[in-house]
Amino acid sequence: MKNALVIGASRGIGLEFTRQLLKGGWSVYATARSSSDVKSLEALNATGIQLDVTNPSSVAGLGWTLDGLRIDLAIFVAGIYGANAGAKEVPSTLEFDAVMHTNVLGAMQLIPLIAPMLEESGGKFIFISSLMGSIAATQSSFGWVYRTSKAALNMAVKSASTDYPGAVFASMNPGWVQTQMGGSNAPTSVYESVSKMLGVIESLSLRDTGSFQSYDSREMNW
Ligand SMILES: NC(=O)c1ccc[n+]([C@@H]2O[C@H](COP(=O)([O-])OP(=O)(O)OC[C@H]3O[C@@H](n4cnc5c(N)ncnc54)[C@H](OP(=O)(O)O)[C@@H]3O)[C@@H](O)[C@H]2O)c1
Repeated sequence: MKNALVIGASRGIGLEFTRQLLKGGWSVYATARSSSDVKSLEALNATGIQLDVTNPSSVAGLGWTLDGLRIDLAIFVAGIYGANAGAKEVPSTLEFDAVMHTNVLGAMQLIPLIAPMLEESGGKFIFISSLMGSIAATQSSFGWVYRTSKAALNMAVKSASTDYPGAVFASMNPGWVQTQMGGSNAPTSVYESVSKMLGVIESLSLRDTGSFQSYDSREMNW
């Protein structure tokens, strides 16, 4: 049985990854911030782990929990959106710090911890980014703190891929998805987004490391 780690699995896309991976026969280690969400993940037959990606001691605790385990697939899903404001407004320090700490520093803290485990297994490290993080696709500025955070996440992923050549690193656009973050007007169900992303992840090989993928099988422009 292969082992997957889903980081940020309390709801939305991370919870759906956990469900579909379990259904596909994976053993799943799934993280959530609250102990009640950890219990709900365990009720699904995942191994629940309490983790706040912004908290260095919580991240160190994850290292102890995973020590000695084989991890074949890790998916960094945790993320927050912040304000919808664009470039005509100055972001608050509070918003900037919260979004950057979660979406960027969260991933950067986990990479040195988990990437060596993935190199050992020849595994894959997938980071849920966004179309809004694509500089090439940008046509407006709404959500500019979030956009900036996902572009920064993309750089973290691309640059880290050069240090861990034995694992596949990829950023992934999940589409606009019906979750708490995406809202009910989003065109894509969480089931469809995740099942398509799992298909793309399955198809990736070492040749694809350092790439920006989309749930609908298009390779994205950075
Ligand atoms: N939905 C979309 O249309 C869309 C589009 C593009 C990209 N994305 C990206 O997809 C990912 C998942 O989003 P979603 O739509 O599923 O949103 P969501 O329903 O709001 O879920 C966000 C998840 O991130 C977790 N999280 C937030 N801060 C965290 C922290 N400090 N430590 C650990 N976990 C934390 C949340 O846990 P708690 O329950 O503890 O808050 C929750 O599990 C995000 O990275 C998002 O940017 C979503």
